[in-house]
This record gives sequence, structure tokens and C-alpha cells, in this order.
Amino acid sequence: TGRGELKYEGKAKRVYATPDANEYVVEYKDDATAFNGVKKAQIMGKGAINNAITAHLFPQLETAGVPTHFIRQLSDTEQLVRAVTIIPVEVIVRNVAAGSFSKRLGVEEGTALSRPVVEYCYKSDALGDPLINTDTAVALGWATPEQLSRIRELALNVQAFLVPYFAARGVKLIDFKLEFGTLADGTVVLADEISPDTCRFWDAETNEKMDKDRFRRDLGGVEDAYAEMLRRVTAPGANG
Ligand code: C5P
Repeated sequence: TGRGELKYEGKAKRVYATPDANEYVVEYKDDATAFNGVKKAQIMGKGAINNAITAHLFPQLETAGVPTHFIRQLSDTEQLVRAVTIIPVEVIVRNVAAGSFSKRLGVEEGTALSRPVVEYCYKSDALGDPLINTDTAVALGWATPEQLSRIRELALNVQAFLVPYFAARGVKLIDFKLEFGTLADGTVVLADEISPDTCRFWDAETNEKMDKDRFRRDLGGVEDAYAEMLRRVTAPGANG
């Protein structure tokens, strides 16, 4: 599959057109940013690891009833996906208080939530992805009420698949961010990636952070944590 015109360049990925208007190539970069681009660096091997982790998880989510944009992995750092129009609403699902939730609400990081919390943010680099609610998204024309209820249903299906998947591999899924898009026929599908850039993963035994917080908070061992997460994601689970 030949790469065509560069359609979009984000902080961690590039999206290219292909000869087939219904397919794009996504290229994963080693570039890492935090605090809305204020902090920038390279994480060696990150692009290949995030590509591999996403390529491992998306087909399993598809089998679990979550339609995704993923078609197949093309190379270490590239995957072929279905062309979607990204809905500019980032969906965060939280199981344990951390990050901006802890800060905003004064809840100690690590506090378990009695049920998953779904949050929505406006996908805007210029504004730093501000928190919104579903009324905001409808009123500003970013999504319909039907799309938003489907997005919530799919996000909770992803949650229901991932929590036991990671638990069987010695990882607590603290929170994660999803993006959805629409196909030409309007079908809502999971897009973007699921990786240590977009999830918080804590070791089940030690609570050691195994995700991008190692970079954000200068904890060191960033590359090792990403490599260990790839090993765990691709390992058979403790329960088969
Ligand atoms: O920073 P915050 O606590 O809101 O992040 C919640 C989750 O969403 C984390 O797993 C973080 O990695 C992810 N996230 C992301 N992209 C953003 C904001 C948060 O992947 N722009």
C-alpha cells in the first residue's frame, strides 16, 4: 500500500492518504509531548511499541463487539486503517483517580472509583483539550446525541474488555483516552490508538507507573516501561 499525501500530522502520529479513498496509513512517531506541547522529547522506540500495542488490541476489541478503524499492521511503525472523520471529542474512562481528575477534584491519586467515570474533552491543541459535557458537543455541532450515546456505550465496552485483559497480565488500568470517528456511511468506530501514551498503567503488585507519566513527571525508565508494556500486552494472560 503506497503512502500518498500527508493528510494530518499530530504530536505522535502522521496520517497519509492511500490510492484507496477509504483507507489511510497511520505512521507512529517517537516524538513525545506533554503539557499540551510545552515539554517535548523523543522516546526511542515508542512509535514501534505504540503501533504494535494498538495493532494487538484493536482486532481483539473488534471481536469483542467494538468496531474500529484498524485494518492491518504494515510495518514496525505503520498501520493501515479505514478512513474516518475524527469526532473532535476525546473520551476518557477512569477507574482510579489520577492526573487531571485528582487535581480538579482534590481526590488523592490512587483512590478507587466505585464505578467507571466517563469524561469528555474538546480535542483542541490550541485550547488544551478542555473538559466539556455532551450538551456542549451537541450544541456546537461536534456530534449528535445518537453518536454520543453510541460513543459512551462503545467506551464502556472497551473498558469491560481492557480491565480484565490487563489484570490477567499484572497491570491495573487506571484510566485511558479514546477517540472515535465516522466512516463514510456514518458508522461510529474506535479510532486513534490505545497505548502507554493514552492510558495509565500501574503494575498490579507495586503500583509502579508503566506509562507516559514516567515522561510527564521525569520519573526515568520511560523506554523500559514502554517495552515492558509491549511484552505484557502480547503475553498470554494469567487466565489464558
Ligand atoms: O491528564 P488526565 O488525567 O486528564 O488524563 C487521563 C487519561 O487520558 C490518561 O491516561 C492520559 O494519558 C490520557 N490523555 C490522552 N491525551 C490527552 C489527555 C489525556 O491520551 N490529550
